[in-house]
Amino acid sequence: MTHVNTGIRKILELPFVYNLFHNITGGNAFRKEYFNKYFDLSDGSKVLDIGCGSGVMLENIKSEIEYYGVDFEKGYIDYCNEKYGNRGQFFNEKVGEVIRTEWLDYFDAMNAHGLIHHLSDDDGEFLLKSAYKYLKPGGYLVTFDTAYHDNQSSASKWLVSKDRGQNVKHTKDYLKLAEKHFDRVEGKIYTNYSRLPYSAFAMKMIKT
Ligand SMILES: C[S@@+](CC[C@H](N)C(=O)[O-])C[C@H]1O[C@@H](n2cnc3c(N)ncnc32)[C@H](O)[C@@H]1O
Repeated sequence: MTHVNTGIRKILELPFVYNLFHNITGGNAFRKEYFNKYFDLSDGSKVLDIGCGSGVMLENIKSEIEYYGVDFEKGYIDYCNEKYGNRGQFFNEKVGEVIRTEWLDYFDAMNAHGLIHHLSDDDGEFLLKSAYKYLKPGGYLVTFDTAYHDNQSSASKWLVSKDRGQNVKHTKDYLKLAEKHFDRVEGKIYTNYSRLPYSAFAMKMIKT
């Protein structure tokens, strides 16, 4: 089991609770800056957002993009269809369930924010392999995952171990996975993006 949705963590599945949590912890303020830094989009850019959750990406992108969101929680997809149904298409699917031939070499950018650490190793491999196939040459995938890293405080290690995603990796292992599938990979550790002592690792993987 790589995704925990029992006990207190169950309520994060409610889109308004998830959004409230990120407003309180400062996560949503950080995301505006984050999307500006990593995504260079213009009107008409084609974007696939895997593990789209409550549609946070659309809240942070100004351009009129051609957007597709995928998530295995039906509650999130219903919420996205209601709130953003006129801005994109949403699919209630699990990573690894479907490969769409019409999406091969189609996307300018892909987002998988907070997803890899929820996936089994096999599904993580599938995600990156299919992302490479779905991107146009020059396209990129951006990921952001809770992480372990060298010189991490014990408070951060403890909080990270309580994440809903149960396959949190060390930054070195995220890089190893990315470099197996992409020619160019840039990684950056974030230790103060939230009011909580949490650590995360962002990677931009470019298909050359
Ligand atoms: C930490 S949340 C991030 C949500 C959103 N990307 C954001 O930035 O707020 C992880 C998301 O991945 C979804 N997810 C986890 N495992 C998945 C899987 N195997 N297939 C599809 N979606 C998955 C969860 O339902 C959740 O919406």
